[in-house]
Amino acid sequence: MIEVENLTKHYGHHTAVDGLTFTADAGEIVGLLGPNGAGKTTTMRMLTGFMPPTSGSARIAGFDIFTDSLEVRKRVGYLPERVPLYPDMTVKGYVTFWAELRGAKQPRQQAERALEMVNLSDRRNTLVRNLSKGMRQRLGLAQALVHDPQVVILDEPTIGIDPQQVIEVRERVRALRQQHTVLFSTHILSEAEQICDRVVIINKGKIVAQGAPNALRQQLQHGVNLYVQISGANSATAGRLLSDLRGVQSVEAQGDGFIVRARQGADVRGDIAQRVVQAGYTLLEMRPVAMTLEEIFLDIVGKGQAS
Ligand SMILES: Nc1ncnc2c1ncn2[C@@H]1O[C@H](COP(=O)(O)OP(=O)(O)OP(=O)(O)O)[C@@H](O)[C@H]1O
Ligand SMILES: [Mg+2]
Repeated sequence: MIEVENLTKHYGHHTAVDGLTFTADAGEIVGLLGPNGAGKTTTMRMLTGFMPPTSGSARIAGFDIFTDSLEVRKRVGYLPERVPLYPDMTVKGYVTFWAELRGAKQPRQQAERALEMVNLSDRRNTLVRNLSKGMRQRLGLAQALVHDPQVVILDEPTIGIDPQQVIEVRERVRALRQQHTVLFSTHILSEAEQICDRVVIINKGKIVAQGAPNALRQQLQHGVNLYVQISGANSATAGRLLSDLRGVQSVEAQGDGFIVRARQGADVRGDIAQRVVQAGYTLLEMRPVAMTLEEIFLDIVGKGQAS
């Protein structure tokens, strides 16, 4: 349904999107995950026909985003990062306006349904200027869904709304599955994990990993994390003992023991057991611990960059 091939965007000398290739199948929810400045918004603006790519191409429902942008827009609902709002319109008027603009068959009824979906029906006669920030975000979502588009592209739909609404919006996005193909961006890993069938992780304009959240975790969990508990040595001594081992990348205290992270490809279990016993201590526990996607994400995009 969405096919992206080598999509690239330069702003002057700066490459914001650098050769992205990915797809989203019909009925699938795909998350575009990346830290600030990764190129999420730039990608979405190209896919929705608001900006031409520097090179590469993309098709939505079989239509080229550049040469068939009118056909694309009919089939796409887009929640931009900054929703253009008309302050003097009423809520209902605003959504109806967008429904008409996109050729909806029953603009008023569809507007009413979209407002219900985002919990704004009781504000239908409120002027847009008088909505709170979170309500505006939800109005943007109603605008994106009003013409019942095949493809829904949402740029950080949960930003700026309160936690209760975040949960509701996530549920609504999730409910779009199967009837719609959804591409949504987020910098929140757990959000991507909760909602998506597949995640495309981008950093500095490039894809660094993609796949189903579970598969991704397995594929990227390089090195094995072990939980190790030693008795007989004080914490500092035990920590030093472990971090001195070749093949150990890092050691972090956790509870009564340590999380030991091995370097890629290294199996350090035998060395740990041997070293502990040689030093005259007792190995109480040693077991693998799964890395969370959060840890993997930080690992890939570099610590301190993912905010
Ligand atoms: N109109 C523009 N002109 C010049 N540079 C731009 C423009 N828009 C974006 N950029 C740059 O392109 C890069 C990608 O920006 P983009 O907005 O696509 O990132 P993002 O992943 O959406 O980030 P965020 O999470 O902060 O929304 C950034 O380095 C940004 O400064
Ligand atoms: Mg953005």
